[in-house]
Amino acid sequence: MTQTATPTIKSERILILDFGSQYSQLIARRVREAGVFCEMYPWDIETSRISEFEADGVILSGGPESVHASDAPKINAAVFGLGIPVLGICYGMQAMASHFGGQVQASDVHEFGAAKIEVKGGALLSGLSIEPNLDVWMSHGDKVVELPAGFEVSAATPSCPIAAMSRESDHLYGLQFHPEVTHTPQGEALIGRFVHEICGLGHAWNSENIIELRVQQMREQIGNDQVLLGLSGGVDSSVVAALLHEAIGDQLTCVFVDNGLLRLNEGDDVMRIFAKNLGVKVIRVDAEDQFLGALAGLSDPEDKRKAIGKTFIDVFAQAARDVSKGSDGKKVKWLAQGTIYPDVIESAKSHQGKAHVIKSHHNVGGLPDDLDFDLVEPLRDLFKDEVRKLGVALGLPRDMIYRHPFPGPGLGVRILGEVKKEYADILRRADDIFMQELRAFDWYDKTAQAFAVFQPVKSVGVVGDGRRYAWVIALRAVETIDFMTARFAHLPYDLIETVSNRIMNEIKEVSRVTYDVSSKPPATIEWE
Ligand code: XMP
Repeated sequence: MTQTATPTIKSERILILDFGSQYSQLIARRVREAGVFCEMYPWDIETSRISEFEADGVILSGGPESVHASDAPKINAAVFGLGIPVLGICYGMQAMASHFGGQVQASDVHEFGAAKIEVKGGALLSGLSIEPNLDVWMSHGDKVVELPAGFEVSAATPSCPIAAMSRESDHLYGLQFHPEVTHTPQGEALIGRFVHEICGLGHAWNSENIIELRVQQMREQIGNDQVLLGLSGGVDSSVVAALLHEAIGDQLTCVFVDNGLLRLNEGDDVMRIFAKNLGVKVIRVDAEDQFLGALAGLSDPEDKRKAIGKTFIDVFAQAARDVSKGSDGKKVKWLAQGTIYPDVIESAKSHQGKAHVIKSHHNVGGLPDDLDFDLVEPLRDLFKDEVRKLGVALGLPRDMIYRHPFPGPGLGVRILGEVKKEYADILRRADDIFMQELRAFDWYDKTAQAFAVFQPVKSVGVVGDGRRYAWVIALRAVETIDFMTARFAHLPYDLIETVSNRIMNEIKEVSRVTYDVSSKPPATIEWE
């Protein structure tokens, strides 16, 4: 497949050069939240790309290295030749100091945590509301001990006398602390000052403008061609569908694969929202039998994931061929995908060799050779929160946009062991009761992800005078920001009790409900 980069806003943009800090992505998010478009590139991108970017300002991120290391990343001098404001954060400040002839002191001792800085002056820090003392987050070893020519100290702490510096005549700024993390309470305002006051930019990056621009770009890119989209009902593909529908209307055909492993009524909901309400062309492929057939006899989680992934590709590819032939004979040229910016950044990083695969995820990759599409990825430069805002602005229901994530293999990894239709039907109903009550108790938005899990074991219960020997359902709810680590949600007992009573009363095939109290690590969020 050929990949076509999505063109981005041409005016008002910040270039971020990444020196490897774990906080780099946060810088980009803060700049976007300030209403300014930005992109992040590795510190060593070619000089030509730096000038082609036509930035209005540059931010140099922090990084794990010491400027004294022999292979330490250096700032490309071209950055300073652009004549635009430059803000160096932590390593970015040290590299800037070193570039202009200042002294950076190497240190094995790490200053990490909250600090109070005294603001001494300079255009960047002076306008903040609670100067002269500012709470900030420090995380550094080395520090600047001697200013380069023309620079002045703009903030200090007792242990770090040059906590911020600037050369106002050239709009060069350095911060030893991290304004991008939430532990620096004025950090957002500070980044806002850099982009608005120092770089002189407005607030053009907002949902309405993004939609307008994207629609125009999609129309130019796609022309009169036909586009195919795999619509899953998840946030990303849903927003792509709504956006492309706005841009090219009937030239978009969505394929929605119902694998029989979806939540209760999910297939009907997707059809109602997209086909009926929005008028999007959606082909629903009912492939439950095919998926259940492929899963028959499999109980190993990885085997199940692979079977689901492979079946998905087969079903989707067949639908794509059917659509490609088209009733009016127009060949489909483009495949739309809901790739978002963190995927782009992560996949660039993962080339450096990753650790163990704990679970293999699948997506619409690896289509057969006869399906040679070009890719159109209108969300490729957007963060998840931006995608959500776009979805709401495009008229998608809030509930759908702010829904908990749902794994690609669906209930296939929430039914332990072999997957059967009978189990999926029971699980769907139990899960739906759990979701209803989470919302009723106002806990849905307080958990990052919650769901029911089917245990293929039977337990004895008593109903009236009778014995009930039936299945076990586990409830799982977690709190997490990044899904890498998670804590089980401390749900109120009366919520758990209501859910448990309803499941056992309303679903006769269930005789027992348990609550999962495992955190990640060592457990994972899904059970398989
Ligand atoms: P784990 O279980 O690895 O889950 O702690 C972390 C997050 O990833 C989701 N997940 C998946 N998402 N395809 C997906 O699209 C998958 O195969 C898959 N497996 C897990 C999980 O729901 C949680 O949000």
